[in-house]
Amino acid sequence: MNNSPVYILGIESSCDETSAAVTRDTLVLSNVIAGQDVHRIYGGVVPELASRAHQQQIIPVVDAALKEAGVSLDQLSAIAFTRGPGLIGSLLVGTSFAKALALSLSIPLVEVNHMQAHVIGNFASRKEQFSQPEFPFLCLTVSGGHTQLIRVRDHLHMELLGETQDDAAGEAFDKVAKMLGLPYPGGPELDRLAQSGDPLKFSFPAGSMGELNFSFSGLKTSVLYFLQRENQKNPDFTQQFLADICASVQHTIIGILLAKLRLAIRQTGICTVALAGGVSANSGLRKAVRELEKENIRVFIPDFEYCTDNAGMIALYGYYRFRAGEFAPLSIAPVARYPW
Ligand code: KG4
Ligand code: ZN
Repeated sequence: MNNSPVYILGIESSCDETSAAVTRDTLVLSNVIAGQDVHRIYGGVVPELASRAHQQQIIPVVDAALKEAGVSLDQLSAIAFTRGPGLIGSLLVGTSFAKALALSLSIPLVEVNHMQAHVIGNFASRKEQFSQPEFPFLCLTVSGGHTQLIRVRDHLHMELLGETQDDAAGEAFDKVAKMLGLPYPGGPELDRLAQSGDPLKFSFPAGSMGELNFSFSGLKTSVLYFLQRENQKNPDFTQQFLADICASVQHTIIGILLAKLRLAIRQTGICTVALAGGVSANSGLRKAVRELEKENIRVFIPDFEYCTDNAGMIALYGYYRFRAGEFAPLSIAPVARYPW
């Protein structure tokens, strides 16, 4: 077996973050992430603008990732890219770039399922030594587009146990934040305000969804009607109780997530859990999941840079596929929906 190090360039362009990363074996050498401010004034991601921004950012971002890693193009072993799920116009930019570069360097191409890569974010680090989950473990992936419960058997074998049937958890945070007049993306702002509010001041229905699936659209609607009703009685209601509303909504969302996580622990008997996705940044969720440690559950939460969309997780997942000899043909095309 060849023992020379494997250098992977990872490319991520599934939504509104253009990112490139370089790994040497399992170590992250660089992870450059360029956001897209252009969406802020629209209060949400505009797909057409996202594709254009990726087109502008991709080469400088890749360049910066290679420079920071101190790795030259001719050292690369393979290029890993996000094939899906995501916005098709955005995915096309990263996919086309990855294909062209792999072709010109005559190195293999590795396709990556963005959602499985989020799970692999738990193994991403710039340090050689850090604590990482042992297999099998359960991963709760919570982002702006997805809410999933996954049984992880090893780096390349994962089973979807349940997922949202409507809105994602991050979407619920963002939509409620929008109703409250908070700036986009509202999740972090709602989290900040919630910290000085009373989580039990108002109660909202948690909704019910069978087994390990999730639903957040009912909560969103009930918050909307609640705000309309209360503001009719008192036009200053939202402003007066802003922190309490935020805390109560956050409490409800976390309650839904934790109930399903606990159910999955009971059903599978797996006592190691990990978080993934941008909502892992939520202070209340982190605290609630950490509380599980008191019940002898082992808890892992990736560093923030590997929670939100980033190419570090793509490159690392690419490394494991590369090792397994799982390469993609140059005829490959991105997919907006990636079947599990
Ligand atoms: O994984 P991510 O960066 O992008 C994808 O959706 O793939 O997740 C972004 C989501 C947004 O909905 C954002 O509002 C939410 O994560 N988010 C938070 C917090 N930080 C980010 N939601 C609640 N509390 C936070 N602190
Ligand atoms: Zn994501």
